[in-house]
Amino acid sequence: MRSTSYTSPEMNNQPAKIEFQTALRVVMMPRDANNYGSIFGGVILSYIDQAGYIEARKHGTHRWVTASLDRVDFKAPVHVGDVVSFLTQTESTGRSSVKVRVRVESERYATGDVVHVTDAHMTMVAVNAAGKSIPFNSAPTVGDFSDGTSCG
Ligand SMILES: CC(C)(COP(=O)(O)OP(=O)(O)OC[C@H]1O[C@@H](n2cnc3c(N)ncnc32)[C@H](O)[C@@H]1OP(=O)(O)O)[C@@H](O)C(=O)NCCC(=O)NCCS
Repeated sequence: MRSTSYTSPEMNNQPAKIEFQTALRVVMMPRDANNYGSIFGGVILSYIDQAGYIEARKHGTHRWVTASLDRVDFKAPVHVGDVVSFLTQTESTGRSSVKVRVRVESERYATGDVVHVTDAHMTMVAVNAAGKSIPFNSAPTVGDFSDGTSCG
């Protein structure tokens, strides 16, 4: 799994290393594209959501829901055939919530060049089967259980 250090662009006066882990790498297919050959923004948002879940799950094996997704600005297009990486980092944690940063990079099909597509900030919340928030550091609430029942 790739681990990458970046200097946060918001912290130019105070350079700080931020560690990202690769949550997902996906090849973009024609079904995800408009008639110009570029990928729908909503497809990228969907993968950002999945990447956020993958990062949140590191904090506990629960149902995780997306409570919020901040504004997402697309700085470069993604094209059919590009290999898109969704890199994640936990920014902060609360009782039941985890704030996750997702960085999206696209490796161009034709050249292999890597471009920065967007960054997203999201809040994931651990919930029980009734949808009520639970402390994410509690025992796993999904999976197989010793009495033979299965939940989630
Ligand atoms: C997310 C959700 C469980 C929060 O419910 P709630 O009644 O506000 O829960 P709580 O008051 O116990 O708050 C739980 C945590 O969520 C955080 N939270 C709630 N709403 C939030 C929001 N809009 N943005 C960021 N964090 C939020 C709270 O700060 C709290 O964090 P903490 O426990 O780490 O301190 C509820 O709003 C929900 O189920 N939303 C739908 C989620 C969903 O289905 N997403 C996919 C949409 S298709």
